[in-house]
Amino acid sequence: MKPRSKVLIIAGSDSSGGAGIQADIKTVTSLGSYAMTAITAVTSQNTTGVKSIIPISSKEISSQIVFSAKDIRPNAVKIGMLHSKQVIQAVMKSLNKIKIKKIVLDPVMVAKGGTKLINNTAIIYIKKLMKNILLITPNIPEAEILTKTKINSTKNMIKAGKILINLGAKNVLIKGGHLNSKQMNDILLNKKTVKVFKSKKYSSKNTHGTGCTLSSAIATHLSCGKDLIKSCELGIKYVNDAIKSNLNLGKGNGPINHLNSINLNKKFK
Ligand SMILES: Nc1ncnc2c1ncn2[C@@H]1O[C@H](COP(=O)(O)OP(=O)(O)OP(=O)(O)O)[C@@H](O)[C@H]1O
Ligand SMILES: [Mg+2]
Repeated sequence: MKPRSKVLIIAGSDSSGGAGIQADIKTVTSLGSYAMTAITAVTSQNTTGVKSIIPISSKEISSQIVFSAKDIRPNAVKIGMLHSKQVIQAVMKSLNKIKIKKIVLDPVMVAKGGTKLINNTAIIYIKKLMKNILLITPNIPEAEILTKTKINSTKNMIKAGKILINLGAKNVLIKGGHLNSKQMNDILLNKKTVKVFKSKKYSSKNTHGTGCTLSSAIATHLSCGKDLIKSCELGIKYVNDAIKSNLNLGKGNGPINHLNSINLNKKFK
């Protein structure tokens, strides 16, 4: 098959392959599109934890975005972890140059273990960036930081989403993975709508990279011309099926199964 569309991913590398750029490329590819990348940081990690992080310079990040998009024009962009004010500013400038409308921002701020990954100045700049983005996809701890509220129910998720819309976000998908609930609730909000996506919750330790995967899947569906609600619905389903498939790799929090959507019909002889 030929790729259905092209997606540019701006994110960090996860050497274990379960999250970050690696999860993004697998997601875009498994959903039938062409993946391009601008790497923001290189991490050494495995399923048990992160050993080191090397940031890439703002200049090099901009160069990757503008130079690759000038040649092969993406239909959508997914943005993952941006660690500093300088990097966020550089990405904003580069996005203004390439003028792509369909952009999904996963505002990565808190690691699975609860460690805050970016400083307060960077958080102010994420709030500026989100005004120029089609969809922002915070998890609950990130939505709490961005709105300075406490979230422990779907009602509070909706309240936080409305605050983000009032702060200038166009569309917000608050992910429910961190809520103590029986089923999974992800909530999409904009000025007109509140849509709750309900899905089955699995009790699994192998959920590394669910957030990266979801934002890439949504960006891919948008890049193929699906509307926002459908793209979120299909993205959530892709993540849910990939968790259900339970790969169980590694000794710690293992990856989800990105290949779940693929049906190989060629024999390699
Ligand atoms: N145990 C689970 N069962 C089913 N779906 C899940 C589970 N955990 C997360 N999800 C789904 O995964 C997606 C990402 O949500 P989550 O809240 O985990 O994001 P995140 O915290 O940003 O992830 P990450 O830890 O990768 O950064 C959502 O669509 C959510 O519904
Ligand atoms: Mg996340």
